[in-house]
Amino acid sequence: TLISSTEMLQIARKNKYAVGAFNVHTLEMLQAVVEAAVETQSPLIIQSTVGTVKHLGPDYIAEAAKVAADRTGLPIALHLDHCTDFSTIVQCIRAGYTSVMIDASMFAFEENVERTLKVMEIALAAGVNVEAELGKVGGVEDDIVVAEHEALLADPEDCRLFIERTGVLTLAPAIGTAHGIYKGEPNIDFDRIAKIAEIVDVPLVLHGGSGIPAEQVKKAVALGMSKMNVATELRIAFSNAIKDVFAANVEENDPRKYMVPAKEAVKRLAIEKMELCGCIGKA
Ligand code: 13P
Ligand code: ZN
Ligand code: NA
Repeated sequence: TLISSTEMLQIARKNKYAVGAFNVHTLEMLQAVVEAAVETQSPLIIQSTVGTVKHLGPDYIAEAAKVAADRTGLPIALHLDHCTDFSTIVQCIRAGYTSVMIDASMFAFEENVERTLKVMEIALAAGVNVEAELGKVGGVEDDIVVAEHEALLADPEDCRLFIERTGVLTLAPAIGTAHGIYKGEPNIDFDRIAKIAEIVDVPLVLHGGSGIPAEQVKKAVALGMSKMNVATELRIAFSNAIKDVFAANVEENDPRKYMVPAKEAVKRLAIEKMELCGCIGKA
């Protein structure tokens, strides 16, 4: 069975590594990250955005993730990424998601607290973990667009207060990363990560994992980030592998053929990210 991400992330925090959290959009992508976890004996968070929930249906995703957890016996959680609306959260918890993100980071502090508390109430009763966001992560994720000048870093004291007010057990503070591939290098505020990790003890989430140079991921994890979200790079790897197949043979029409290298590419990339997270062998 799928487990909540709460304890998995607390263990990661205590042992100074991060769990890889991978956004999947198809059954093959889901299988690919599961195979990566099996091969490396890593804990795993499978994630879907609201867009993917609408695309595939929450029950299809949840049932596939349950099969993965049952077959592998690995600690696997299923997480709803960047959700802004309450009804989708309820729908996903009903389907079997064991972790949800309420992203009310576009609202003022008090409104963010209120919206997070509302989710906490139902999620706690269901044994489901809640991730909330403070500050604003830049870039584009599904329908959420944050321009660079609007991206706002999280204030450490606000983080402490937010956790005190909401009781959330997982927090995503904006610390300078962005969704999508960076133009140039990200501008990560490492001092801020250290400061936040010093004054709050819940696991912290690094969003915008695609495109962060390897050394910077390791540094962020060493300073206290306990979950890393990766979406865009996986999507690109998956799609490029399929493009290569069709470039070599435009007549190819068997998904059981063209999906194979795509799946393999996602698996390899997920393993690379797991290595940077330091979660290999921690299952
Ligand atoms: P990337 O698309 O940059 O990997 O960001 C992923 C993410 O933060 C999903 O919530
Ligand atoms: Zn994100
Ligand atoms: Na990114």
